[in-house]
Amino acid sequence: MSAFETERVLSVHHWNESLFSFKTTRSASLRFENGQFVMIGLETDTRPLVRAYSIASPNYEEHLEFFSIKVPNGPLTSRLQHLKVGDDVLVSRKPTGTLVTRDLHPGKHLYLLSTGTGLAPFLSLIQDFEAYEQYEKIILVHGVRHVSELAYADFIEKELPENEFFGEQVREKLIYYPTVTREPFRNQGRLTDLIRSGKLAEDIGLPQINPEVDRAMICGSPAMLKDTAELLDELGLKESPKIGVPGDYVIERAFVER
Ligand code: A2P
Repeated sequence: MSAFETERVLSVHHWNESLFSFKTTRSASLRFENGQFVMIGLETDTRPLVRAYSIASPNYEEHLEFFSIKVPNGPLTSRLQHLKVGDDVLVSRKPTGTLVTRDLHPGKHLYLLSTGTGLAPFLSLIQDFEAYEQYEKIILVHGVRHVSELAYADFIEKELPENEFFGEQVREKLIYYPTVTREPFRNQGRLTDLIRSGKLAEDIGLPQINPEVDRAMICGSPAMLKDTAELLDELGLKESPKIGVPGDYVIERAFVER
């Protein structure tokens, strides 16, 4: 049996010149945990061209959704960005990944710290019923360079709070904190600086991140992961050493070389 299932593109949405999302069909046999990723890609003349993509849709949805950057000369995304409804996409049968709530010690607040397309796995997690049962607050931070990169902002701010099944939990527990670094916006600066200075804590009305009650997941570029992990270490949180062994925080690369 091939390692890949062929799925069909159901819709495509371009956020700006560098970011797009698409939905595909989902095989009944694909099971995953919110926060995990799969390999996706395209058939070529020689062999499949695939890359890791976090699943942005929650695991109870009938379709799959992915959020992608367009890299001008990227082997995969230079082709993927031209996807049309009805096209075929390969999706691996074995989801995996570190951004799963079961690898975090119990806590009160869950910080989801992302930059760029690192938002993707957290879109799945902010629609996870169990996460809302487990935490008193879920804080989603999304750092980008430009306002136009704040993909899904309307979905998070307007649609999720009205969700018929968990809208009430979202209104009570989800704190969305978008921040922009290279043009004016209501929140500005790198998330690492905002945490270190206490500005994030002040803005959201919670105490500084501490290992007693706070848990975190990080997804972004390699530099962002390194700096954010160092900061969490300084604040006294311990990283989960590997899948299946819990810690105070977990990290995953937002896969940027595409
Ligand atoms: P900045 O504009 O100051 O570089 P990128 O597109 O390079 O991945 O950046 C996405 C967002 O992440 C930008 O707002 C960028 O800020 C920020 N960023 C880049 N590197 C880091 C880092 N090491 N720590 C925290 N934020 C970062």
